[in-house]
Amino acid sequence: MIPEMLFFNHLQPYNAPNSYKNCSKNDQITDNPGKFADLGNITYCRLKRAYTSRYNKTIQSEETCQSMKVTIYGSGYVGLVTGTCLAEVGNDVLCVDIDRAKIDMLLRGEIPIYEPGLDAMVAKNIASGRLRFTTDAAEGVAHGLFQFIAVGTPPDEDGSADLQYVLAVANSIGEHMSEYRVIVDKSTVPVGTADKVSETVNAALSKRGTDMEFDVVSNPEFLKEGAALDDFMKPDRIVIGTDNPRTTELLRELYAPFNRNHDRLVSMDIRSAELTKYAANAMLATKITFMNELSNLADLLGADIENVRLGIGSDPRIGYHFIYPGCGYGGSCFPKDVQALERTANEIGYKAELLSAVEAVNLRQKQVMFNKISQHFENNLSGKTIALWGLAFKPNTDDMRAAPSRTLMEALWEAGAKVQAYDPEAMDEATRIYGTRADLTLADSPEAALAGADALAVVTEWSAFRSPDFEQLKTRLSQPTIFDGRNLYDPVRLRADGFNYYCIGRP
Ligand SMILES: NC(=O)c1ccc[n+]([C@@H]2O[C@H](COP(=O)([O-])OP(=O)(O)OC[C@H]3O[C@@H](n4cnc5c(N)ncnc54)[C@H](O)[C@@H]3O)[C@@H](O)[C@H]2O)c1
Repeated sequence: MIPEMLFFNHLQPYNAPNSYKNCSKNDQITDNPGKFADLGNITYCRLKRAYTSRYNKTIQSEETCQSMKVTIYGSGYVGLVTGTCLAEVGNDVLCVDIDRAKIDMLLRGEIPIYEPGLDAMVAKNIASGRLRFTTDAAEGVAHGLFQFIAVGTPPDEDGSADLQYVLAVANSIGEHMSEYRVIVDKSTVPVGTADKVSETVNAALSKRGTDMEFDVVSNPEFLKEGAALDDFMKPDRIVIGTDNPRTTELLRELYAPFNRNHDRLVSMDIRSAELTKYAANAMLATKITFMNELSNLADLLGADIENVRLGIGSDPRIGYHFIYPGCGYGGSCFPKDVQALERTANEIGYKAELLSAVEAVNLRQKQVMFNKISQHFENNLSGKTIALWGLAFKPNTDDMRAAPSRTLMEALWEAGAKVQAYDPEAMDEATRIYGTRADLTLADSPEAALAGADALAVVTEWSAFRSPDFEQLKTRLSQPTIFDGRNLYDPVRLRADGFNYYCIGRP
């Protein structure tokens, strides 16, 4: 078989017409759409683009391109960003979510999460007709050649990843599919999940008394909340785990608009792709945790962890990223993914001691702020009011999943203190989580949170908190006391200004 035909056979979806199967490099593909018509959702134009780039031919009449059809299950931080960015580059995207309220909001043009720049991009793509929303799974299965799973994988009771949402999507794909589909797992899932997805789809198909070809691909997502659009539009890498080269080519084509500057696509087997995502998060969590451990040592030894950070970050083998000491990592990924990887190891009889230590040290670190506050007030916090700046687990998001602010607030309440909190974006989320309670006041501004409080605790390093008016701050607090969980301020200056200043790992 000539190599060109091999290439086309890889690109070819199930049940592609014979005329397509027989095409070759010498065919006038750019001038003959009819010959390659009816390729399901692999449109003639996309095929043309793959062909022309593969053979170094000039792409002609790009504007006549039609889009690829993509379905995304889950309209959360990952699904909504993925769907919107795929629509932004011209694809026809349908987002499916089981949360009726979320879909209703999106249909009204409201964005259920805070992610910088997302509202404008969603609005633009809704207006263009390239981005649509539904709760109807059958419609979703009928729509896209690509069926992206971007639903949550929260921790189960024992810390392992709960796959019920992923497998529910797999089941509905099996229930409704009527032609070849590429099922792309973008959720973070343990090694072996692609096999479970395949089994679930096959079980649903055989319940219908039918059999149909489909492929399952692992395509873990590495975007960061707060910079998600940029991360998706200009990814560091695009990991594609598949056992079928045909699907690598399909995904390469779908991701081509994000892969222009140099090839970022890393193709591998499915299990390695699944493990890659956990490896990345566990490595980053380990870096942070290492510095947190060192910060506690620095506290005891009278060293300054900020000097140590600069001293080691300058070594290119270590680097400056992710070595900021603080009050523990939180968020929707690191805590659950470290735990899930450790549980995966347990299940196969391997004791992942490093991962257990990372988890334990981080849980301890999340108590550090409370311990410092409690010690300052001689273990008597009853009746005290603490102003809290920052509820989100990091800046530029409203996500409070596993946020250090929650550990601190809950410990303060337990000890009888009240909290007056402010966050630029996470106030609604705090209300959703905690409702109305007498010991929590959500203030309108950073200044309002300070009014009459006995101390300020800075938990999230939002830029709005980086350079406050310290004179004014002093007058608003009943005592000039700051607990800085992110080392934002200069200890020498604050102490000279008359503050009781506590930070992480600094004298
Ligand atoms: N948040 C991040 O920064 C991030 C980054 C990389 C990877 N991930 C991974 O991506 C996955 C999704 O994370 P997220 O933060 O977007 O979660 P999320 O909780 O924000 O969103 C998940 C969405 O899936 C919906 N859903 C649940 N079951 C469904 C079904 N059967 N059909 C359709 N929709 C369904 C939920 O209603 C929810 O809206 C997780 O596995 C996570 O670990 C997250």
